[in-house]
Amino acid sequence: MADEPLGYALVGCGRFGRFCLNTYRTMENMRLVAAADADRALSKATAEEFNITPLGSLQDVLRRDDVHLVHIATPPSTHGPFTRQCLEAGKHVLCEKPLAISGAEADAIAQISRRTGRKVAVNFILRYSPIVGMVQRILREKILGEPLHACFENYAQDEVLPGSHWFWDKSLSGGIFIEHGVHFFDLYRQWLGPGTVRWATALTRPGTHQEDRVMCALEFGDALVTHYHGFDQPIRLDRQRHLILLERGDIVVNGWIPLEVQVHGVVDDTQRDALAAAVPQGVLRTVKEYPESEQRFRSHGREHYVTAEVFLDYAIRAPKMDIYGQLIGSLMQDFANSIRTNQRTLVSLEDAVEAVKMAEAAENLARQRGSNL
Ligand SMILES: NC(=O)c1ccc[n+]([C@@H]2O[C@H](COP(=O)([O-])OP(=O)(O)OC[C@H]3O[C@@H](n4cnc5c(N)ncnc54)[C@H](O)[C@@H]3O)[C@@H](O)[C@H]2O)c1
Repeated sequence: MADEPLGYALVGCGRFGRFCLNTYRTMENMRLVAAADADRALSKATAEEFNITPLGSLQDVLRRDDVHLVHIATPPSTHGPFTRQCLEAGKHVLCEKPLAISGAEADAIAQISRRTGRKVAVNFILRYSPIVGMVQRILREKILGEPLHACFENYAQDEVLPGSHWFWDKSLSGGIFIEHGVHFFDLYRQWLGPGTVRWATALTRPGTHQEDRVMCALEFGDALVTHYHGFDQPIRLDRQRHLILLERGDIVVNGWIPLEVQVHGVVDDTQRDALAAAVPQGVLRTVKEYPESEQRFRSHGREHYVTAEVFLDYAIRAPKMDIYGQLIGSLMQDFANSIRTNQRTLVSLEDAVEAVKMAEAAENLARQRGSNL
């Protein structure tokens, strides 16, 4: 197995599954074997494009001895049952987010994975973003002090989500917190440590059953955080922004696939060097050098020593979809290595379970709030 190519099958040849195939087709040590979809015409067209075998169902995939790894890219309500069936059949699973639409189901998957010794990865691609890693380093090394507040605003497009799309049917998608919010619950746990959802709400588009805007407030240690997701924008205005406020500055990240980071703060000489090392290709500008009389101050109940005010900017100059493809490839490479060598992946199964539980907590709070109105 160690040197044998990993036999891969896709279940769910929709928009995202086919996009992933484009990346996986070029990966060494990976052999695309089959593509299955309930829509036979779609699995046939996908199989022809990628020169693999078309299949109709998960069961057809599980019967194949040459498939070692199944990629589940069907709507969220199928993720739990499909992943469990794959594990019981001795296959490893790359599951699209969310791992499941309930915490109990996510826990059951983790249990089956431990019992069968088969691995599950969830496609939390954001974690492989270089900009996410830069922010993580600034936070971990406390270069700008402790985080106090963060806010994530997701103004997402809905042009590819007509009213009939499974996204709007909560029995299939789990709702926005579960279908989409999981990415960001997971990301903020990495950035800020364990978190708790304290408040949540949701709004339905007037005259429809489409819940298109959700919002929640969370505590991560001593940081107060809000997440907003709205799916009501044209594609050309689709935009996302993270703002993280710290004791001595702030970090702004732009893009759902992060493409830009801007850091502003006051630092001493060591911290200035640490910022430059955290964002090596960034442009670091010192806009003010403080005279000795202004280098010490007290704020947030603490003494601070700084020598300069700085701005740091970094932008990835490549098309978003190219970066998206790279993140998909990095995650798969990490997962394939872990199957071969038993090393840990950057995103653990426990992380994926925890993200579903946070999303479920937000969904439950929003629902309770709705029923009280
Ligand atoms: N990781 C990411 O960044 C990312 C990005 C986009 C979408 N996704 C996830 O990928 C999944 C698929 O999303 P999409 O946008 O491609 O949806 P989609 O509707 O375009 O594709 C889903 C496909 O699954 C097929 N399908 C449905 N039920 C099936 C069944 N029982 N057996 C076999 N096939 C079945 C459908 O026919 C369809 O072709 C979702 O879970 C979504 O959350 C992840």
